[in-house]
Amino acid sequence: MRSYENLNLISENREPQRSYYIPYDTLEKAIEGNKYDSKYYKLLNGQWDFAYFERDIDVPDIITKWDKIPVPSNWQMHGYDKPYYTNVNYPYPVDPPYVPDDNPCGVYAVDFNLDTQWINRDTYIVFEGVNSCFYLYVNDKYVGHSQGSHLQSEFNISQFVNEGNNKLTVKVLKWCAGSYLEDQDFFRLSGIFRDVYLLSRDKESARDIEITVTNKNIFVSEKDFVIYDGKNKITSLDNPILWNAEKPHLYTVIVKSCSEYIPFKVGMREIGVSGKGELLINGISVKLKGINRHDTHPNLGHYTPYEHMRAELLKMKELNINCIRTSHYPPTPEFFNLCDELGFYVVDETDIEIHGFTSRNTGYEYDIDNEDWICGQKQWKNAFLERVQRMVERDKNHPCIIMWSMGNESGYGSNHDEMIAWTKNRDKSRLAHYEGSGLINDKCGVDVVSRMYTGIEDMEKFAKNNDMRPFFLCEYSHSMGNGPGDVWDYWQKIYQYPKLIGGCVWEWADHTVEVDGVYKYGGDFGEATHDHNFCCDGLVFADRSFKAGSLEVKAAYQYIKTCIEGNKLTVKNLYDFTNLKEYTLLWKIVCDGDVIKSGNLVCDIEPHETKVYELDFILPESCKLGCYLDISLLGKYEVAMEQHALDVNIQSQENYSAGELQFIDEKESIKIIGTNFLYTFNKHYGNFESIVIDGEEKLAAITKLTVWRAPTDNDRNVKHQWCGQNFNKMFSKVYDCRLEGNRIIVEGSLAGISRSPFLRFNNIFTILSNGEIQVEFEGKVKEDCVYLPRLGFEFQIPKKNKRFKYFGMGPSENYIDMCHHSKIGMYESSAKEEYVPYIVPQEHGNHIKTKIIEIVGLKFSTNKEFEFNVSNYASEMLTKAMHTNELKENENTILRIDYKNSGIGSNSCGPELLEQYRLKEKYISFKFSISKL
Ligand code: GAL
Ligand code: MG
Repeated sequence: MRSYENLNLISENREPQRSYYIPYDTLEKAIEGNKYDSKYYKLLNGQWDFAYFERDIDVPDIITKWDKIPVPSNWQMHGYDKPYYTNVNYPYPVDPPYVPDDNPCGVYAVDFNLDTQWINRDTYIVFEGVNSCFYLYVNDKYVGHSQGSHLQSEFNISQFVNEGNNKLTVKVLKWCAGSYLEDQDFFRLSGIFRDVYLLSRDKESARDIEITVTNKNIFVSEKDFVIYDGKNKITSLDNPILWNAEKPHLYTVIVKSCSEYIPFKVGMREIGVSGKGELLINGISVKLKGINRHDTHPNLGHYTPYEHMRAELLKMKELNINCIRTSHYPPTPEFFNLCDELGFYVVDETDIEIHGFTSRNTGYEYDIDNEDWICGQKQWKNAFLERVQRMVERDKNHPCIIMWSMGNESGYGSNHDEMIAWTKNRDKSRLAHYEGSGLINDKCGVDVVSRMYTGIEDMEKFAKNNDMRPFFLCEYSHSMGNGPGDVWDYWQKIYQYPKLIGGCVWEWADHTVEVDGVYKYGGDFGEATHDHNFCCDGLVFADRSFKAGSLEVKAAYQYIKTCIEGNKLTVKNLYDFTNLKEYTLLWKIVCDGDVIKSGNLVCDIEPHETKVYELDFILPESCKLGCYLDISLLGKYEVAMEQHALDVNIQSQENYSAGELQFIDEKESIKIIGTNFLYTFNKHYGNFESIVIDGEEKLAAITKLTVWRAPTDNDRNVKHQWCGQNFNKMFSKVYDCRLEGNRIIVEGSLAGISRSPFLRFNNIFTILSNGEIQVEFEGKVKEDCVYLPRLGFEFQIPKKNKRFKYFGMGPSENYIDMCHHSKIGMYESSAKEEYVPYIVPQEHGNHIKTKIIEIVGLKFSTNKEFEFNVSNYASEMLTKAMHTNELKENENTILRIDYKNSGIGSNSCGPELLEQYRLKEKYISFKFSISKL
């Protein structure tokens, strides 16, 4: 056994875990809180010497050849070894605590200088994150070792350092026994990936300092301290300003210990659970509008610099997110400083996941009674327990943390009992959470019942059962690729039941690795086992830019709900601690795309309260396309928006002037000749192949009836049924095509290769004398057919006219279940702007509830609604391409006028698409017309 496999040796000489803080040498600096100003803090980040060995046994006593590597970083991001993406499966045999014989090792070295002042005091070194374990040497003397990649390791190196130059050497191993506890679903990356720094300490100064709060008082474990509110000293806390995620007021506590001033940002708040199972923050029932967050950066791997974290937290705020689960390990401690300051409720999760035990035999099974599971093994108890202890002790002073999580997907065993019991005893002010408690029906000490990917119906069952603990979806709405489409429906129920306290969308950002402008995923690095693009499942792209799914979550999480009856607007304030008067509510009456009346309201509405306002507008007698009330809640930016359809009579307008019309019925085609136009209808294939108006060809190829869409990641299960029907290898058959007066009637069917037809249809094309083509589709779908991806006509149009205009749902792409972020209106766009760069190319760019689209001088319109899509990419191309750079533009622009597109859902990991969002009707009729603009 190698020492890093020895469970009795998981660390040596590491300091007992203390709360996170930085000591300062003056009061002023401590109040200011810029750690770089502290004389007692020395950051060692920078370019270090580095030597990489594929096997630790090859590391020589004296290394003569050094490269350079930045610290913090992961060595796989710098050309040593390769990133390895695996989800459940361990990347080596499941033979704990043993790891592969060939264990890569990175040796790091750096020099640092200490002056007399430092030498006269004690010197500590802190590593905020090293994957997977490391051995520390100072001036070539062994100091100690540690494991627990996402936890802090501190060593007292006073007796090893000299005045002047000192040499630090760190030997980092890729694998160790602890790796069995770190089977999180991410790119496996190694090295010193978080800050490394020295602290100069008084020999006798305080080590662990604990601050506890209630909503009345602050308690400090040290005697000598002062409380500040901003820069003002506070002597009494009579009327304290409480902390919550909306108004994260922080006091500063400065502890004086020997010569050190140690600042803490302190938020006063109390966490509780009501008799109804509500989550209470300062007595107020709060819903957790959450996301799961990994440490991830497309170029830096697991290193997420402070400014990067700050920027991403601000993006979360923009999406109305108020809760973060730190999946599945504690982030760097400064992340919590940011959450305290910006206001988030955090579920701090310890660095444990042993998911791969489910697949240690072939198959996938939570056979937790089997003794193989290390969560039930005594010899692993300390390894489990110390991880939760190190997290709690490091992070305990942060007001943002409301729950401690025992890790993720680690089965359930006696070691969990130990962890939960220890945590609850250590900190009674917060809740204890563990997702795996579901495996034993939550018959353990957890304070919340937590599940992942539960469907809406099942969630409702939990809401109604008699376990009065809050129900929390620690993961839901799997946001892989185009999606998620189901978040809105979840929230209608979450608001309905007190006990449903919300949940965390899986997950915040795509965690991929960017190589030459292309985002890579599992398999791109030659991994022996991998999980393809399952790491590309972010609510935001890897660069944190938004997609439609991000905006959909923003809409579901938004803090107002409105409705209109006559002129009466009801506004409900869903904030927990904010009066709506801090925002401006802008309303607009928009008729046929034009604003006919608008106004502003400052709504003085207390949290959770509702008020009714009389809006001053008069609706027109009738309109052409539709009349809507658009609501927008504005702060620094739009924080919420809603649209309500208004009851105005829609007049259909058929006021085309008549013209001359001539039909020439030939063997394979019908020519239709009118004033300034010539259409050619292909009788053999039953559709138009040429539309020439004013001498200009509008079609670049024959029009087709199709059902395929490039499967989204959320279609990954149903796509097997779609492919089973061979929808992607489809034949269109015309049985009969005839001209009757000014109508062309086509009888036909669609069938996948080797399958019987799944759709039989009649298409009637009526050509009016002014050139308008009325398309009427009527079809029957085979009884036992799986729901269709979509159904509609695909027009190929010349690329030259780039811009188009539409009256429909926009501006971002939308689908029947993912449309709450968009509004019906008049918009302009282009095929290029419609493209969405999903990491694995897939269906995108749909618009529902459309009445008109004007493109290439043609107007496609309907009295009802259709869905449309304009793209430079054929569905077949989007289906085939596996990375964005493999996409080749189609020769022509493709316009789809669809009866319907199935919804998006989140079935990449979540429940199946809800019935009501499937295109599953067996009888379909659908009409639209094509005319000259
Ligand atoms: C969950 C797991 C996450 C992630 C997700 C799939 O089961 O907790 O870590 O793997 O599935 O993306
Ligand atoms: Mg997992």
